[in-house]
Formats: sequence, C-alpha cells, structure tokens
Amino acid sequence: MLNAKVAELLNTQINKEFYSAYLYLDFANFYEDEGLKGFANWYRVQAQEERDHAMLFIQYLQNNGEKATLEAIDKPGVALRDRMSPLKAGLEHEEYVTSLIHNIYDAAYSVKDFRTMQFLDWFVKEQGEEETNASDLIKKMELFGDDVKSLYMLDNELSARVYTAPSLVL
Ligand code: FEO
Repeated sequence: MLNAKVAELLNTQINKEFYSAYLYLDFANFYEDEGLKGFANWYRVQAQEERDHAMLFIQYLQNNGEKATLEAIDKPGVALRDRMSPLKAGLEHEEYVTSLIHNIYDAAYSVKDFRTMQFLDWFVKEQGEEETNASDLIKKMELFGDDVKSLYMLDNELSARVYTAPSLVL
C-alpha cells in the first residue's frame, strides 16, 4: 500500500494527464482548421503520449494495490488566437505539469517511498524533454512563422512526427 497522500497525488495526476491530452487535441484541431496539418499531426501525437502518461499512472496505482478513480476532465481552457498562442500555452502547461510531478516526488521523498520516486524518475526526464520540445517549437515559429515558404517547410517537418509507445514499462 502507498502512503495516502502519495496515492491521492498519483490519482490526481491521472486527470491532469488526460486533461493534457484533451488540451493538445484542441491545439491539433486549431491547426487543422488553419490548414497547418503538420502542426496538427504533432499535437495529435502529443495527445496520444499524454494518454499514455495517464495510463501509466493508473497502472502504477493498480500494481501497488490502489484504486484508480477517474474524475471529470475540464474543457480545454486556452484561448487560441493565433498560430503562436498554442505553442506558448503548451510550454506554460508543461512547466505546470513539471511542478505537479515534482510535488508528487516531494511527497514520496518525505515518506521514503523509494519505489514511487523510481517510477517518477522517468517522468522527471520526460518533462525535461517536453519543455525542450515546447521551447523549440516557439523558437521555430519566431524564426520562420512569418515567411510563407519557411512555414510550409516547418509544417512539413512536423508532419513527420510519429507516435511511439512510452519507453517506461511497468
Ligand atoms: Fe504528460 Fe506533457 O506531460
């Protein structure tokens, strides 16, 4: 059995990850409407990864004899005004998710729950990568977003992203 606070935070994270998937699907739909199918693809893949994250939290709880309780998922709460706004909101959201992961880590550390800390290590690394990816997208849009040909090439580049299952196996 896990410490009650740690279990509660892990359960809350299921919802946060599903919300992330929902948010990124909203971004994908926005870019699809804009005719930027590469950006739409990139965020659809990202949404799949977020669903995987949620599933990992569910599985970890269940592997430790805990119940996974699903809560309602909020509406995507980001105003999508222009091509840059999803990218900036994406980075902000990932920084928020990083803070949540660190918070769970902190709770696990305080009760010497080394197993949960080891489970979360993968997410700490993953968050670093996701923040980097989000920053890179912003930089690319700043550099190339105003030039039609460059934007076309950037969109093509993002259309190449393919889904791969998470490297963490529980
Ligand atoms: Fe599941 Fe983008 O963090």
